[in-house]
Amino acid sequence: MLHTVNSVHDLRAALLPWREAGETVGFVPTMGALHKGHLALIDASRKVTKRTVASIFVNPLQFGPSEDLAKYPRPLEEDKKLLAEAGCDLLYAPEPAEIYPEGFITKIDPGPLATILEGAVRPGHFSGVATVVAKLLLQAMPDCAFFGEKDYQQLLIVRRMVRDLNIPVHLGAVPTVRDTDGLALSSRNAYLPPEQRKQAASFPAILKECVNLFAEGRDIGKVLAEGHERLTGAGFKCDYLELRDAGTLAPAHDLTLPGRLLGAIRIGSVRLIDNMPVNGI
Ligand code: PAF
Repeated sequence: MLHTVNSVHDLRAALLPWREAGETVGFVPTMGALHKGHLALIDASRKVTKRTVASIFVNPLQFGPSEDLAKYPRPLEEDKKLLAEAGCDLLYAPEPAEIYPEGFITKIDPGPLATILEGAVRPGHFSGVATVVAKLLLQAMPDCAFFGEKDYQQLLIVRRMVRDLNIPVHLGAVPTVRDTDGLALSSRNAYLPPEQRKQAASFPAILKECVNLFAEGRDIGKVLAEGHERLTGAGFKCDYLELRDAGTLAPAHDLTLPGRLLGAIRIGSVRLIDNMPVNGI
């Protein structure tokens, strides 16, 4: 049975004996509805730290007013089982009032990186992410924390915040885990009806085609325009398809530095994001 705590006090009490024994602690923050992508984060933590703590907290601060906070899946018992099987040592599952008690007002502003791409479509989202991640890291004070490359912009924002605020944690980035047809695993995939789930596999396939065309030296603007057309032709509404500098997310006009292709689409009411590395030449 996975040891579960719900308060900052109990979290710190559970961590104390490990700390006193000189054991290293890895931390995997999640919003639950766990899949193999999350389990890859647990694996990555277990490879480098003695103890692994996961958190499950559906963070209201990162949901917009028209987003799916109320219907976000919360299969806590299943999640606990998966975490225990994956070798996680402790689950921190606080209630909203523990994280945002009455009168809570301080928020982190991650700056311009939070206003582009996902941030342009979801205003306030990354402030909510950065605020909760800062709180969770300060509550657990782990040696390492693990984030998936699937949420690439989130990863860069957290990296920047940790550096800017001198939070003493080492960050691990874990490659995206994909289904057999290439679709990046995401808790939101569960919202896709079977026909749309099948259709969704064209999204990573089109991204991959763009990556291959970049590797052949094709004109970046043309590849992106064609990619956009192909996404629309495949039945998606494309929010963006952009080639960005992999380190700063500034627009990439050439491939002298490593790039990242980032895309966001909608199929019906479901919004999916994905990204792939584009090697510099
Ligand atoms: O990636 C997520 O699941 C969330 O954004 C995170 C990092 C757990 C913060 O709520």
